[in-house]
Amino acid sequence: MSLKEKILQLVQLPGWEFEQDAAVTGLNDNEASDEEKGLVGSTLGIWGADKVIEIQKKYIENHPHHIPLLFMLDVIHGHKTVMPCPLGQGASFDPELARRGAEVQAREAAAEGVHVTFSPMGDLVRDARWGRVVESTGEDPYLNGKMVAAMVKGYQGDDLKDNDHVASCVKHFAAYGAVVAGRDYNNVELSEHTLRDQYLPAYAEGIKAGARLVMTSFNTLNGIPSSGNKWLMRDVLRGEMDFDGVLISDWAAIAEMENWGFAENLKEAADLAMKAGVDIDMCTEAYGRNLESLVNEGRIKMELLDEAVLRVLTLKNDLGLFEDPYRGASVLRAKEECLSAKNREVARDAVRKSLVLLKNEYNALPLVEKKIAFIGPYAEEKELHSSWAISCDANDTVTIKKAAKEFYDGSDTRIKTARGCLSASDGDETMRGTYSLSDEKKQNKKLFEKAMEVAEWADEIVFCLGENIGQSGESTSKTDIRLPKPQMNLFKKICKEYRNEKTIVTLIFTGRPLDLEKIPEKSDALMICFRPGTEGGHGIIDVLSGNYSPSGKLSMSFPYSVAQAPISYNSFSTGRPKPANGGSAFTTRYLDCPNEARYPFGYGLTYSNFKMSEINISKAAMYKEDETDSIKASVTIRNIGFHEATETVQLYIRDLAGSRVRPVKELKGFEKVTLLPGESREVSFEIKEDMLRFWTIENKFDSETGKFKAFIGFDSTTENGSIFELK
Ligand code: GLC
Repeated sequence: MSLKEKILQLVQLPGWEFEQDAAVTGLNDNEASDEEKGLVGSTLGIWGADKVIEIQKKYIENHPHHIPLLFMLDVIHGHKTVMPCPLGQGASFDPELARRGAEVQAREAAAEGVHVTFSPMGDLVRDARWGRVVESTGEDPYLNGKMVAAMVKGYQGDDLKDNDHVASCVKHFAAYGAVVAGRDYNNVELSEHTLRDQYLPAYAEGIKAGARLVMTSFNTLNGIPSSGNKWLMRDVLRGEMDFDGVLISDWAAIAEMENWGFAENLKEAADLAMKAGVDIDMCTEAYGRNLESLVNEGRIKMELLDEAVLRVLTLKNDLGLFEDPYRGASVLRAKEECLSAKNREVARDAVRKSLVLLKNEYNALPLVEKKIAFIGPYAEEKELHSSWAISCDANDTVTIKKAAKEFYDGSDTRIKTARGCLSASDGDETMRGTYSLSDEKKQNKKLFEKAMEVAEWADEIVFCLGENIGQSGESTSKTDIRLPKPQMNLFKKICKEYRNEKTIVTLIFTGRPLDLEKIPEKSDALMICFRPGTEGGHGIIDVLSGNYSPSGKLSMSFPYSVAQAPISYNSFSTGRPKPANGGSAFTTRYLDCPNEARYPFGYGLTYSNFKMSEINISKAAMYKEDETDSIKASVTIRNIGFHEATETVQLYIRDLAGSRVRPVKELKGFEKVTLLPGESREVSFEIKEDMLRFWTIENKFDSETGKFKAFIGFDSTTENGSIFELK
């Protein structure tokens, strides 16, 4: 291969250079020459077997060495059959669910010619202001690690040559979820121990699971943009994590090192990225227009370039592209695969298991009344997926309205729906779409009047409120995480009228934790539905009807106020912890808000009631030097309610004294247990020394002898604990 041919294998062009309907998921600020179009190694944003085959055929014929093009796409939580958003999947505490969902996504995307998906996101998130929390599985390193690894396995299977699988790209490396002030693309300031203890583990689990690509993040880490961070990419990612796959930049992230003031120009940016080990330049001219001179000037060694090219060609080879550049993509295969009943059932099951019941009084749920009114923008909304479900068709979504009418014998005698108001936020230009502000007000007035009629008619009111598809995802940071005013007005007015005579249930559709204001107080039942995807209506009605009990647990804390962000359960006690009884002055507190989240990590109700025994530990100490040693921590749980239900038993550990201060709790295990009424079961966890390791003052991962406390509970607030010692 000539130098030019090698270099262009490292360049990724946006799909619109090959096909005008390609998805736009980044900035468009450069044009490719015909020569480049004929030699680049990959493209993104294109799907559709016929289109891919046509482009690939022409490309291979013209390429001097007939090297196939790689087609990459953001299949984040669904291609045509969309699963719940990752924040909802995290709430399932069910890695197998995530793996099954990723398998469906891979089959559907591969049938339509996709080779690589830019998923899963391993970013740990603690700040609901950041709109991309929708793409993460939450605030805990251990849970995120399990979910990310499961998704990688689902996407890739055991053999990438299997045409039902695609290569997985773990992103965004690293710590993108910690952007200052929750503002997208911002800088990140993290100590090395917090980076290593909290933010890196999930990426590492994805790489251990075999992810073939990693994507650099937009943010700087302590002043250095990730795409130019040699320590992070070569020492940590490729060295410590032993990653030998393809490292791709995020969209324009190499060129943006100039905006950051880290590179003086595009050529320096290319030099920095190459030396940091970034193999593919996503959608800028940095590599394509500068690597040749950098090599000719001796600033970039040919072997560095060859290494990168070899990794890209190895990926293509492992995908079987040299044997079959189309990987069996076909319109017929896609027709059979996409949105199949089997795939829809996987999605429907995932919806059921991702729903989090936060309140259920007076047995408001399951729904039993005769006449039920679903009121709110999401009662009829088709866009129940997230803004990252870029290749699906909202018309394939099962809405609440459709599912409710199906379930409740399709008559108008039991089910009525009313949108009540537009789903746009109040006056936000980008959310209002084609409406002017005055139009919106007029529309909302009409919709409200209809809603009042339907509320008057009903025995039970189910509000369907939340954020719309454009209010979470990339570049959607918000300083106000309350519901749009038109929705709150709708809720308040109807509650004022009917609160004391009708059952009020509220469903919240959201891509982020919200400040729920007075909604919980005024609702008899409250359930978080996240962005449930294609089978949203079916999965939600399956649970509202009582056919399935909800079992989800929050994987990201819901705060009282956005001002608490960033917030997470695994915080520190401080030198002046606020006593449980409310505390006094001179302790860590706010004057106007609790320290804790309103709804904590790991919290969620079922339709039944489970009791847990006190924790029992098998012995008081274990020995660090004896690697076979462990302590068994166990409880007995019992379903004392009247419904079959699934609880998630959670193990937390606290290191009571370390060479660095340690969180008050850290999730170290969880187990989902399904019990019939009256059934009981022992649940036990094996505590081993490696679970106690952290980034010590010696700057290495290690455990330290001393006292620890193990807790077992149904959420992160459990105090059901017992002390043990590592000797
Ligand atoms: C976007 C996102 C990244 C995505 C990529 C390609 O900017 O940050 O998550 O995979 O570009 O669409």
